[in-house]
Amino acid sequence: MDDELFQAAHAAMEKAHAPYSKFPVGAAIRAGDGRIYSGANIENLSFPEGWCAETTAISHMVMAGQRQILEVAVIAEKLALCPPCGGCRQRLAEFSGASTRIYLCDETGIKKTLMLSDLLPHSFETEVIG
Ligand code: THU
Repeated sequence: MDDELFQAAHAAMEKAHAPYSKFPVGAAIRAGDGRIYSGANIENLSFPEGWCAETTAISHMVMAGQRQILEVAVIAEKLALCPPCGGCRQRLAEFSGASTRIYLCDETGIKKTLMLSDLLPHSFETEVIG
């Protein structure tokens, strides 16, 4: 099952549009419906307009009507492990719970498992807004 998530992240990485950084990233989310939603980073000539692989995957999940992230796999071919960037940690937190797992992968599979709370401790949470 986790291998399926890794394979999906790897396949997504192959679809990255990263001509500027030449740093393809793939992400795959297992959502509450048990299905996998994946994405790659999509860069733009106007550099700040590009976005991350995790963000693409979240978009696919939400547009499929899902709002719960159970687990996430992330891979970047040029890094031993690719922890999600700060912005993506916050975006993942929006749809994650205490047991959401983040799998950091290399070319061969999952190398490290983290809880989202490991990546984003003391996160912005308030009942006043949400
Ligand atoms: N990138 C991701 O896709 N996810 C991350 O968590 C880190 C960074 C992308 C953004 C950009 O296209 C490239 O990696 C180099 O920063």
